[in-house]
Amino acid sequence: MTRSKPLYEGKAKILYEGPEPGTLIQYFKDDATAFNNKKKGVIPGKGILNNRISEFIMSHLHEVGIHTHFIKSLNMREQLIKAAEVIPVEVVVRNVTAGSLCKRFDVEEGMMLPAPLVEYYLKSDALNDPMLTEEHIVTFGWAFDEELDEIKAVALRVNDFLTGLFLGVGLKLVDFKLEFGRWYDEEGNLYIILADEISPDSCRLWDVETGEKMDKDRFRHDLGKVAEAYQEVARRLGIFMDTQTQDNVAEFKPKESAKPKTSGTSGMTKGKPAKKKADSTAGKTGGGSTKRSTKKSKKPKK
Ligand SMILES: Nc1ncnc2c1ncn2[C@@H]1O[C@H](COP(=O)(O)OP(=O)(O)OP(=O)(O)O)[C@@H](O)[C@H]1O
Ligand SMILES: [Mg+2]
Repeated sequence: MTRSKPLYEGKAKILYEGPEPGTLIQYFKDDATAFNNKKKGVIPGKGILNNRISEFIMSHLHEVGIHTHFIKSLNMREQLIKAAEVIPVEVVVRNVTAGSLCKRFDVEEGMMLPAPLVEYYLKSDALNDPMLTEEHIVTFGWAFDEELDEIKAVALRVNDFLTGLFLGVGLKLVDFKLEFGRWYDEEGNLYIILADEISPDSCRLWDVETGEKMDKDRFRHDLGKVAEAYQEVARRLGIFMDTQTQDNVAEFKPKESAKPKTSGTSGMTKGKPAKKKADSTAGKTGGGSTKRSTKKSKKPKK
């Protein structure tokens, strides 16, 4: 399909204008970056895997009443989404210590937290995504108080849902990052919706039995078999039943598996796949009970 000029090209995805006003096409690239762009690379086949994994997760979240930007899958690398006004705050939910939390507070990796920890970071590569308090977010007008309450509540619901979903297929959800946006329906009602993607790029997932990392940390720390780990997450979730797509991912594999630095991934075929496929839920997002009228709310400062 010929596409219009990209509206935005990010590190992992490209946004194009959608076929209807208020829609966008999100194209998933194989490019990977880490440590605020200091490390760059390509994970062959990643875009295909993340497109399908994010579609699967967002569709399931929709089924439990969480509003997301996902409308429908278009092809292996593209999905139709609702154009949202993205709130420039990355919301991180942590269940187990890992990554920057360990560095910042000098704590050991792998400690179960007594309760989920919600953190906020400003989406700013130039400032190296600084950590924010809720007060910063409200003070500088990135979100209103009531929006932040909703964002936090939704993030914790997503955590509950995903923890169970992944545990069912032998994966521990260590932490993950969400992005939210504002979206208005035809009557001008404002919704806070989940935007961006949920995939092994944005989640830390450890094999329950072996502790093996099954996410972007394999790329960050040169653990090898990165695409294989993403593919295993998809397989366990019951994604990729169709052989055409599987062949397309497999085409990318030899280059990737040629240079693993460690022998990891022994746990990659252990979990049971989830029973359900998400395809039937495409096109159902939007609507629901948490809408608010925009007439009552002021626009936040830019
Ligand atoms: N529904 C949506 N409507 C509008 N923009 C969206 C939506 N979902 C995601 N985005 C934005 O699209 C971009 C996706 O591209 P990508 O993830 O590659 O960006 P990035 O390089 O991580 O940069 P950024 O710092 O902007 O996130 C992000 O900026 C994200 O905030
Ligand atoms: Mg991004």
